[in-house]
Amino acid sequence: MLDYREFLGEILISEEQLKTRIAELGADISRDYAGKKPVLVCILRGGVMFLTDLMRSMTTPHAIEFMAVSSYGAGRRQSTGQVRITYDINNSIADRDVILVEDIIDSGYTVDAVLQLLTTRQPRSLTVCTLLNKAERREVEVPIQYCGFTIPDKFVFGYGLDIDEYYRNLPFIGVVDLSRYKGITE
Ligand code: IMP
Ligand code: MG
Repeated sequence: MLDYREFLGEILISEEQLKTRIAELGADISRDYAGKKPVLVCILRGGVMFLTDLMRSMTTPHAIEFMAVSSYGAGRRQSTGQVRITYDINNSIADRDVILVEDIIDSGYTVDAVLQLLTTRQPRSLTVCTLLNKAERREVEVPIQYCGFTIPDKFVFGYGLDIDEYYRNLPFIGVVDLSRYKGITE
């Protein structure tokens, strides 16, 4: 198994910066949703670390739900635009205030497809909270109410985000130096 330091280009966002910014987002959401009981819908698997830290920084009571989508073919690092829901939420969101929690918005296809689906279920409100926004890569416009960091067009990993399904556990967001990354072997 490769040591991530063998292909880490740079640490883009440190553990400390993540902590500070997520605390701010939690405070913003808690203020905006005061008196409400929102449902945070997390997109698996990349959004998990962000969700759990965001929850701990929120003071409003809230529920959580999970969805999984697949938008990449195996080994691809770009959305195909073909988004498939592989795991759906279990409870009704009708008349609920829903916040979609994502790790990163890249082309925008994933969030666009999930928003369209959730809208058909008649939530009272629906907003998007993403940790990262690769704004310059956007192919379809999506509304973003809460954004942790806008980042450049680089492939990043750590803090929930994977490179070939590994390294999600790292506490920071790092940039992959693709010239030094040869794929996960043994
Ligand atoms: P989109 O549909 O192109 O917006 O892609 C969103 C999904 O692609 C995210 O939920 C991530 O799972 C994945 N993704 C996009 N960029 C990166 C990256 O730099 N590192 C890891 N995953 C990424
Ligand atoms: Mg994701």
